[in-house]
Amino acid sequence: MTNVLREHSCRHNRGMSSTSITFSQVGIVGTGAMGRGIAQIAAQAGSKVCLFDTNPEAAAAAQKQIEQQWQKLAEKGKIDAAKVAQWSALLKPVTTLGDLSSCDLVIEAIVERLDVKRELFAQLETIVESTAVLVTNTSSLSVTAIAANLKSAHRFAGYHFFNPVPLMKVVEVIAGLKTDAVTCERLTQYAREMGHTPVTAQDTPGFIVNHAGRGYNTEALRILNEGVTDIVTIDRILRDQVGFKLGPFELMDLTGLDVSHPVMESIYNQYYQEPRYRPSVIAAQRVAGGVFGRKTSEGFYQYDNGVQQVPEEQPVPQVDNIPPVWVSTRAARRAELYQLLKDLGARVETGQSPSAEALTLVAPLGFDVTTVAVVERLDPARTIGIDMLIDDAATKRRVLATNPATRTDYRDAAHALFARDGKKVSVIRDSGGFVTQRVVATIVNIASDICQQGVCSPKDLETAVTLGLGYPMGPLAMGNLWGPTNVLEVLFNMQTVYGDTRYRPSPWLRRRGAIGLSLMHEEE
Ligand code: NAI
Repeated sequence: MTNVLREHSCRHNRGMSSTSITFSQVGIVGTGAMGRGIAQIAAQAGSKVCLFDTNPEAAAAAQKQIEQQWQKLAEKGKIDAAKVAQWSALLKPVTTLGDLSSCDLVIEAIVERLDVKRELFAQLETIVESTAVLVTNTSSLSVTAIAANLKSAHRFAGYHFFNPVPLMKVVEVIAGLKTDAVTCERLTQYAREMGHTPVTAQDTPGFIVNHAGRGYNTEALRILNEGVTDIVTIDRILRDQVGFKLGPFELMDLTGLDVSHPVMESIYNQYYQEPRYRPSVIAAQRVAGGVFGRKTSEGFYQYDNGVQQVPEEQPVPQVDNIPPVWVSTRAARRAELYQLLKDLGARVETGQSPSAEALTLVAPLGFDVTTVAVVERLDPARTIGIDMLIDDAATKRRVLATNPATRTDYRDAAHALFARDGKKVSVIRDSGGFVTQRVVATIVNIASDICQQGVCSPKDLETAVTLGLGYPMGPLAMGNLWGPTNVLEVLFNMQTVYGDTRYRPSPWLRRRGAIGLSLMHEEE
């Protein structure tokens, strides 16, 4: 690290960086968790980086911490010592905002308050040159609102990174109402130079990632609120059937409800109480009680010295005589279900209606087991539902649902039968759309509406969600894989069961699902 370099202002060091880089000198205002991460990748791209923070120690502390990160990478053999020295020479803590005067890009990552951010940019506008670009890393405020009083709002945009910045390799480039195209293009180019994948979003609540992420947690909380099953079963089903790395309750515990519940409330309210984003009283009560998650050693799970305590799986009941099985003529994936039953060694009835002793299987999309039993005139005491939205071969768990009249001997017989080949089985109470159908359909519906609103392109949506939320696939790919028409049917039927406009299908999904078109299909 060269002390000589640190003694000069950012302006004096201009000649050091590469000429091909989009922004050769970058100012970071606010050097907390986000500012540090952004500074790190900006220096790695070859920009000189000035660090400013109102807390006098923060900028120097950020410099030290970033240099330690590079040292660690060098110790692991990922970079060499020369690289550490080269990058370290690009970092420079400064003591006044005026020291950022020669920066051609200033990125703000300060406290999340509209008045404070507005005041900062009003000052910065008078400090930097007229060609410099100004950006905010806000995650919940409107980019347009922050820029409202600026004289040169055309060169102001949002640059929304995720924590930890060096590892979360996606950034949302957000155009405010007055942002010009050149500013967004330059930011997009620079994101690539920093090794990140840029996605372009309109200035709407939650932008892409925080908007698309509304479905997972809110629907899981509704399922819990309805008493369909317990926390650990919901998490297991979504991990094993869909491939999410963390169940929604594990995820909320990790993030902390003190962070995720206010985001749920903020997006819901910014969209004028749109039912699709409705938060849960369960989360509100836990926040009020200080039960946040891992950070408080108590959340949806208990933590013993930081280790999550996980309840046992539901035991498979011992059943000696499994009755013959009859499958509803309207079951989803009926042929596949038949084959599965044969493979499991079940006695399968082939008559038009079930015999007097038959275990009656239904496999609805969106409807609950009760409704199907009544509509199909089946004996509810012997009727069990199975979620067949997803190909049985593609899932690690089967999910069965009872109805309020199901006899325990028939429930246990079904559980034992479907566990015969060793696959995990969860038995839940009645639910329009089981667990997976509800959550998947809600995610796909919200993603579809993001496309309908033109918040971003379908391609950018998929990229942002996969990289920003770590979903096993993009939500539109999820809809395509399990069938836009099926997902549409799930939503229509859930809306019938619950009478809740939360489940009304977005026109994007409604039209593509009706025609049987890919959800990625954009109109000419
Ligand atoms: P932080 O609290 O770790 O750091 C904020 C820093 O800004 C502190 O060092 C503070 O001293 C400094 N600061 C506050 N007011 C200032 C001012 N007027 N001028 C200069 N410095 C000032 O916060 P964090 O987590 O880094 O977040 C910063 C911004 O990034 C917020 O707008 C937040 O919404 C956004 N963001 C945060 C994410 C996260 O996961 N933490 C993700 C994406 C965006």
